[in-house]
Amino acid sequence: MKKFPDNFLWGGATSSSQIEGACYEGGRGITIQDVVTAGTNHQPRYFTYIDKDGNPGKYPQFGGVLPEGAKYAVLEGEYYPNHKAIDFYHHYKEDIKLLAEMGFKMFRMSVCWSRIYPKGIEDEPNKEGLDFYRNIFLELRKYNIEPLVTIWHGENPIYLENEIGGWNNREMIAHFDKYAKTILTEYKGLVTYWLTFNELNNTIMFLDLMDPELAQKEAQSTYQQIHHKFIASAHTVKMAHEVNPDYQVGCMIAYAVNYPRTCAPQDIIAAVEKDHRISTYCGDVQVRGYYPGYAKKIWENAHITLDITEQDLIDLKEGIVDFYSFSYYSSACVSAGKAAEPVKGNFTLGEKNPYLTYSEWGWAMDPDGLYYALHQIYDRYQIPVIVVENGLGAVDEVEEDGSIHDTYRIEYLRSHMEAMGKAIETGIDLFGYTTWGCIDEISASTGEMKKRYGYIYVDCDNEGNGTLTRMKKDSFYWYKKVIETNGQDTL
Ligand code: BG6
Repeated sequence: MKKFPDNFLWGGATSSSQIEGACYEGGRGITIQDVVTAGTNHQPRYFTYIDKDGNPGKYPQFGGVLPEGAKYAVLEGEYYPNHKAIDFYHHYKEDIKLLAEMGFKMFRMSVCWSRIYPKGIEDEPNKEGLDFYRNIFLELRKYNIEPLVTIWHGENPIYLENEIGGWNNREMIAHFDKYAKTILTEYKGLVTYWLTFNELNNTIMFLDLMDPELAQKEAQSTYQQIHHKFIASAHTVKMAHEVNPDYQVGCMIAYAVNYPRTCAPQDIIAAVEKDHRISTYCGDVQVRGYYPGYAKKIWENAHITLDITEQDLIDLKEGIVDFYSFSYYSSACVSAGKAAEPVKGNFTLGEKNPYLTYSEWGWAMDPDGLYYALHQIYDRYQIPVIVVENGLGAVDEVEEDGSIHDTYRIEYLRSHMEAMGKAIETGIDLFGYTTWGCIDEISASTGEMKKRYGYIYVDCDNEGNGTLTRMKKDSFYWYKKVIETNGQDTL
């Protein structure tokens, strides 16, 4: 049966800080991602800094804040996996060739803000940075691969973090606007699809990962930062359409599926409220152009008051997105009481679902959750939808002959493709699928290399050792066949 439309955009996804490396090359400035150490599933990653008295310090990625007067800094003796990553910077031609061999129709990547404006405040962009991305887009076009460009995937120039306080400061919007306008203009004719902010809602999820007292303190700045990003995103959409009416700009949400743990009405309500808080809050604003009614209740419960101007409300209305994009990895249960058995997900915390199995990193594997999410999203917004992240992070073994038998990954992806096919059959306008980490890259949550998602294996370990040789996994050949047959042959 024909499920996927003829022009369905099969592909894969990455982010600049997780693949590029070369963090001191090409005139690039340091970003906030460059001051995060390596961790594991049980050991947090840390942000490093120099405190106001000149002493080095660090705080956990999901459980601390920069002390008063401290500045983020790269410290001697610490290992920062993103500095080298998989060195896509020097391997992009080879890597794109491999993606083309699989038949990719779309490649999702992000532009690193500090390659274009190293500090974020310069009047003129950095030519070397502009050329780097231009060359990538040209290379992709050579193989008829459509770039899907995330304008912001967490890469704030460190200068803006240290000198103006990052997204806490409204001034950040103007710096971002300048950066976005530069690339929207520069790459006219090379790019059609853009995403403004990656997983805009994930900092709300981070609050759940913090100690409750700290989370209460951080709520005000978290929601204010998101508001500033909403405005920057809306400006970007408006500018994009002015620069090129053919541009298609989407939001990008980390879609967490929250099932009520039981049919007790209190659990159902707890799930709805959690959906509002973490899954729909951002999409509602970016798709509809105004805050949903329940936002007031969220702010009231968190004891926060946001600085929202009259002009902001106009800007939000004028910058609604053309399509909805999201990441989906797993689902979790929610109940009104204390979590019986807590489980992790992509930056989320929920309750264990006895009907599901879990990955080595403890994330539920739930293809039906993707079918469910697609319905929730499409029923709500009725605009085109694309899944821009999905996949299984797993340890891969290289056999003596160099083969890599990642049947578990094929199984995970196949089941999620089936869920998408079913969703398309029920009328959902799903136009593409870019699986996460099509080539192995640094894990965002743990900083590990061994949490691999790719069809292409990269010889590099958690400490950055390895030849960086690229090798094809079994899933490489499998995905090639999937694309060739437009999803008909997923066996
Ligand atoms: C998403 C991010 O949250 O999930 C990616 O957009 C990230 O940057 C991906 O890598 C998978 O998460 P992880 O922690 O397994 O790398």
